[in-house]
Amino acid sequence: MTPAAAPNEAERPAKEGGSVPRHVAIIMDGNGRWANKRGLPRVAGHRAGAEAVRRTLRAAVKNGVEVLTLYAFSSENWRRPEEEVSDLKGLLGYYLERELDSLAKEGVKLRLIGDYEAFGPDLSKRLEKAMASLQSNRRLTLVVALNYGSRAEIAAAARKLATKAVSGEIEPASIDEEALGSHLQTHGLPELDLLIRTSGEVRLSNFLLWQAAYAELVFTPTLWPDFDEAELVKAIEQFAARERRFGGR
Ligand code: FPP
Repeated sequence: MTPAAAPNEAERPAKEGGSVPRHVAIIMDGNGRWANKRGLPRVAGHRAGAEAVRRTLRAAVKNGVEVLTLYAFSSENWRRPEEEVSDLKGLLGYYLERELDSLAKEGVKLRLIGDYEAFGPDLSKRLEKAMASLQSNRRLTLVVALNYGSRAEIAAAARKLATKAVSGEIEPASIDEEALGSHLQTHGLPELDLLIRTSGEVRLSNFLLWQAAYAELVFTPTLWPDFDEAELVKAIEQFAARERRFGGR
């Protein structure tokens, strides 16, 4: 077997200056606890969480991050009370529409991963409209994970490859890491460099399992609604301080 090359290493300016991760992902956790601590309903935590998204996105643009991937709704979140699911859907549509102009001004492009169509035709159309209007932007790609689960994403990629193999379009022997990666919903994005989870939980919760293979992981006790530029910069500094070897010496 030939030794695996460090993924996309040739295209990675990130570590050269020791500095900025190209692709940062965040598991935004702790909205409920934030609200609870204040005697507020959970939706107030999600609203404050949406403000944290705004701050963090701005900070990511300012600090030169190219891709910011946010876990906004997992495929397990359907288990929450109907009212909370509906609040989250409402917030998402509202936030995107309210922020559209400033996202455009900041040069932000929008991409979605996960099966967002399960949110129904109304929200799906609004999301697609937002994506279309931000399509030509280049400064930062905001990837929002909606009704996303990493195992389902990997299974879907395997299914697509199997279908191609059965039809004779590809040889089973040609199915390698690159082929599978290019059938994931994150295809074409730079490798994930840094994965942050807030609120003190130390789990990946079915988020970007394949993509996180070489990512630096940062867990912070800060609850998501309290996350801000200083927190992002702190995580970026931790990333810069760690020497990544991709399994090499
Ligand atoms: C986790 O907190 C957070 C979520 C399930 C939803 C994240 C959604 C937002 C930040 C709002 C809108 C998003 C965008 C992209 C505009 P939790 O409810 O699990 O908190 P807990 O663990 O303390 O209960």
